[in-house]
This record gives sequence, structure tokens and C-alpha cells, in this order.
Amino acid sequence: MPDMEATLSPMNTSTAKLYSPAAVGRYQLSHRVVLAPMTRLRTLQPGDIPSPMMADFYGQRASNGGLVIIEGTSISIPARSYYGAASFFHDGQMEGWQAISSAVHSKGGRVFMQLIHGGRQSHVEMTGGVAPLAPSVVPFEGLALIRDGWVAASPHRELALEEIPGVVEEFRVAAQRAFSAGFDGVELHGANGYLVDQFIQDGTNKRTDAYGGTLEKRCRFLKECVEALGSVWGMDRVGVRISPSGEWGGISDSDPETTFAYVADTLEAYGIAYLHVIEPRIKGDDTLHEGHAPLASKYLRPHFRGPIIAAGGFDREGAEAIVERGDADLVAFGRHFTSNPDLPFRLKNRIPLTPYVRDAFWGGSEKGYTDFPTATPAELQA
Ligand SMILES: Cc1cc2nc3c(=O)[nH]c(=O)nc-3n(C[C@H](O)[C@H](O)[C@H](O)COP(=O)(O)O)c2cc1C
Repeated sequence: MPDMEATLSPMNTSTAKLYSPAAVGRYQLSHRVVLAPMTRLRTLQPGDIPSPMMADFYGQRASNGGLVIIEGTSISIPARSYYGAASFFHDGQMEGWQAISSAVHSKGGRVFMQLIHGGRQSHVEMTGGVAPLAPSVVPFEGLALIRDGWVAASPHRELALEEIPGVVEEFRVAAQRAFSAGFDGVELHGANGYLVDQFIQDGTNKRTDAYGGTLEKRCRFLKECVEALGSVWGMDRVGVRISPSGEWGGISDSDPETTFAYVADTLEAYGIAYLHVIEPRIKGDDTLHEGHAPLASKYLRPHFRGPIIAAGGFDREGAEAIVERGDADLVAFGRHFTSNPDLPFRLKNRIPLTPYVRDAFWGGSEKGYTDFPTATPAELQA
């Protein structure tokens, strides 16, 4: 946060719990406002090389003792879904990722990398010419992003039983690369209808082998991925993101409450660093679904006693309230963080937020990405 804080009059400065320290895994954070993972499609092509402007973006949003979660980062070529999105599967990307972890550390922040396999949400142009992979073949009308723009996802194929350990191993190797690049931990992307979620939910998992059928078997892939990440990092530096009420990617489950209570129980037993829950107010798009009880408080909190990060449609009041109630321990902000690099500072000091620019979310230059101002002394006194 800017040094300005030292000179502040305490008049507008909130003492809400959201701005108090929290232990997350082996780390002690100084506040509870987290940067949510956001795919911004700004890698350099060819090679998905993390661009210098990505290091600027994350450095700007880092704060002393704050947690930054990097956008969904594909673990292999078949895992990719979106042209220009982040990935980490070859050594040519190492330097770019090191610059990003350094940029966050230079501000005293902590940085986790979100690891993703897109599964069936992809196109042959992104997967290296092979059919996108999925637990089962289930009709899917979603989209993928190739060089020429958004197109219908390619027909996917079912992962053979003997191929699954290879995908788990890709997660492990990517986690190892994140370790080598100086990150502080990794987050498994188990949300938003990508591969891990496709295994968990019964609308997309029709398998009858060791990875499908019962709830326990549907969660086997999740468990193996978590174990793979934990083997590199230790469980206290592994987070998992889930979206029990999400619909993005055509995902569905016949009994999400039972499914995700089991997921939460399972992850608690592993002692992971945190559970990151996308609340039902956002369904993978911009739509706010007001009136829904926050999911974490509704049925996950009793199943997971470690730190819960809630995300999805929060404003200052909502974030302060959920942490005050104890239903979540931290709150991740997405869109507001795009246009307010000093978001934790602004929230704490009641400084108005700069509106976000949706047109610049996916792809493009520094414009709408790294050119948003931090608060001025005049705004602070207002
Ligand atoms: C531009 C953009 C990209 C996103 N990319 C990801 C992603 O890579 N991984 C992920 O788990 N969620 C992703 N999300 C979802 C956000 O992490 C977050 O859950 C969502 O924006 C709701 O939070 P908000 O209301 O604070 O924006 C993305 C959202 C946006 C707006």
C-alpha cells in the first residue's frame, strides 16, 4: 500500500476485520483483500511468454502482506483454452514468470499461481491439434478462443483410464515450475467447468471406472491433483478454487450441496492452505444474482474449518460483512481490482473506486490494464 497511509488522518480509515491480519497456510497476511485470478490474455506469442506488462500489472496490485492469485495458467498444450492466456509448460517461460513473482515480492506481497486444465472447454487449435480431453463425452455448446476469435469448442474425447496419471503428472510438473519461478504457492483451478470440475460434477462425469460413478470416485481426480501439488509444495501452500453454483462451461450437478460438502470435507482432511469459493451471486459471467445467500455461509463453512476465500460480486460493504460474520476469512476481488491497483488501500480508507473497463478485460495493450491510477492525496482527504 502507498506510504501515504502513514500520514493519514484516521477519520476515514476502517478498522473492519477485512483489514486485519490472517494466517493462510504457512503465511501470515497483513490483510484479507485478495486479488482474484483473472485471465487477461496478454502473453507474448508464439510460446505464451509472460509479458513485461503482466509483471507490471501484478506488481501494481501487490501490497505488503497481501495475497495475489495469478490468472489461470495452463499446465500443458492440451490444457489450453484461450489464445493469449497464461501457461507454464516450457523453460522459455521461466524468466517471464520469475519477473512476475519478483514484482509481487518487491512490494512485500505473496503470490500463488492458479493452475488450470481446460478439459473440454477448448479447440484443436489451442490443444496442439488433438481433441480436447474430458472425463466423458457429453454434448457441449461452449466456446474457445483461438487466434481468429471466439469459436465453438471442438468435439472432445474421453480420457482413457491409463492416460489420467499423465495429466496428474502435468499438474505436478507445472507446480514444480511455479516453485522454481519463485512463487509462494499454487491454487488448483477446480472451478468454472474446467477439467477438475468436469470430473467432480455428475453432469459431465459419466464414467463407470475408478474416476466416476460414486461421489468418492468423481473426486478421485481432484484428490490426485491436490496430492501432486502437495508433493511439491506441502499442503500448507496449496489452495483449491471451486464454484459449486457456477454454470460457466455448461457444468451441472444433480446435488451440488452434497457434492461440494464432500469436496470441502476432503480438502479439510488434506489441510490445504485455503478453500476459494465463488459465491452464487456470480455465475461465470457478469450477472449478479442478488438475493442468494452466500454459499460459504450456507453450507460449506461447517465442512471446512481452514481459511475460506469468498469471491464473486463483492463490494466493500459485502466484503467487510462476510468477514465480520465469519462466514469467510478473506475476500477475493476481480473486476474492481482491474481498475484499482491499490484496492485494499482504497477500501480501507473509503476512497471511491475507479470504474472498470470491460472492453480491456481480454487481450490488448497496457491500455485498460496497467494505466489505472493509485489514489491521490486529495482523494484521501476528501
Ligand atoms: C477478466 C476476467 C478473467 C477471469 N479469469 C479467471 C481465471 O483465470 N480463473 C478463475 O478462477 N476465475 C477467473 N475469473 C473470475 C474471477 O476470478 C472472479 O471470481 C469473478 O470476476 C467474480 O469476482 P468479481 O465480482 O470481484 O469480479 C475471471 C473474471 C474476469 C472478469
